[in-house]
Amino acid sequence: MNDFVLQVPTKIYFGKDQLKHLPEEVLQYGKKALLVYGGGSIKKIGLYDKVVKLLEDAGITIYELAGVEPNPRHTTVNKGAAICKENNIDFIVAVGGGSVIDCAKAIAGVVKSDTDDVWDFVEKKCDITGALPLFVILTISATGSEMDKWSVISNEDINAKRGLGSEFFFPKASFLNPEFTYSVSPYQTAAGSVDIMAHIIDNYYFTKNPAMEMIHNIQEEVMRTVVKYAPIALKEPDNYEARANLMWASTWALNDYLKAGVSMHTSNHSMEHPLSAYYDMTHGHGLAILIPRWLEYVMQKDPETIPIVARFGRNVFNVDQNLSDEEAGKKTVEVVSDFYFNTLGLPGKLSDLGVDETHFKEMAKKAMKGDSIQGFIELDEEDVINIYKMCL
Ligand code: NZQ
Ligand code: ZN
Repeated sequence: MNDFVLQVPTKIYFGKDQLKHLPEEVLQYGKKALLVYGGGSIKKIGLYDKVVKLLEDAGITIYELAGVEPNPRHTTVNKGAAICKENNIDFIVAVGGGSVIDCAKAIAGVVKSDTDDVWDFVEKKCDITGALPLFVILTISATGSEMDKWSVISNEDINAKRGLGSEFFFPKASFLNPEFTYSVSPYQTAAGSVDIMAHIIDNYYFTKNPAMEMIHNIQEEVMRTVVKYAPIALKEPDNYEARANLMWASTWALNDYLKAGVSMHTSNHSMEHPLSAYYDMTHGHGLAILIPRWLEYVMQKDPETIPIVARFGRNVFNVDQNLSDEEAGKKTVEVVSDFYFNTLGLPGKLSDLGVDETHFKEMAKKAMKGDSIQGFIELDEEDVINIYKMCL
């Protein structure tokens, strides 16, 4: 068990009637807002009008960056930062999912640092030395970006997708109304649900040096919550309890409460980001295809992992307690695949998404953190290529 520090400064407003507090939060920082949003879903659900009215009634002038792409591009970030600099924007309001929030975080950082190009942060040409205050109105349960310090940005010119982390990126306040997620499509609901689980799987749960048992048990509870409520949200998109449980699970999965000192590379996320970068894949879908194959691979390569995989199957997916660890490990791969590909309905192979072996070598190189990925087990380039091939 490692020592750790926990400081998460984001204030959360959770529930149906909380958005009215937006003006009082933002007015502490000024009267000029950049409103950042995606491809238009917020207009269809009437949320855009609501937010604009709230801000305008409070005397706030609104500038806009619309059309942030899923897997947000560095060029879009730079465009947003230019709007902020030209107009002396005081704060940013991001309305959307992980892509919109991540784009807004990166814009906030560029505005307060010594560059006009977010990719300078990635290439370490410039440090993130500050950020504009950021407020989030979340519309999809998935990434946890609403309460974390991460921003993931893509650069299409060089097929790269990279995470930037900064203490300056924590939103000042995030508004979480499960009703805003009623309109999320079954596909995005499924992909988001996989992503929530993947944050626990990748960051803390699958390790030979777990956090204290209390936290390990809570990690399992959050994953069980997804297994229970994602199918309900698919059948009944406007089931408040299901959407609320998924939303809070998404926030908890990556807000550091469940980390408790565990420190390692994320295996599946490191392998997924190159998939998104080369094929513009939906993040959670890429993870769904990778995770069962990765579990299979690590158990083959390192038998010490088998009891840990077996515990996951038993405690999260109700795998029969009477099976041996070996049998339970195998069964776990089956039930996880069944959950992702049948219950949640995500196509289960990379070839279903038009992926072949062409870029596997370059992608495996890009997945490396140095010479390997130091996750549950250490993976080198060859291991990653093998796992990609198993996913075809
Ligand atoms: O663009 P709009 O029209 O808003 O549509 C979006 C988009 O097409 C739609 N959507 C969102 N809310 C909706 C809705 N459609 C109907 N009703 C609503 N209420 O869903 C689609 C996907 O949106 P996106 O924001 O891309 O989804 P998600 O939240 O899964 O974010 C994915 C991005 O976050 C990164 C991923 O790599 C990816 O780029 N991640 C960010 C992390 C972080 N900041 O901590 C960690 C994650 O591991 C992840 O890497
Ligand atoms: Zn993720």
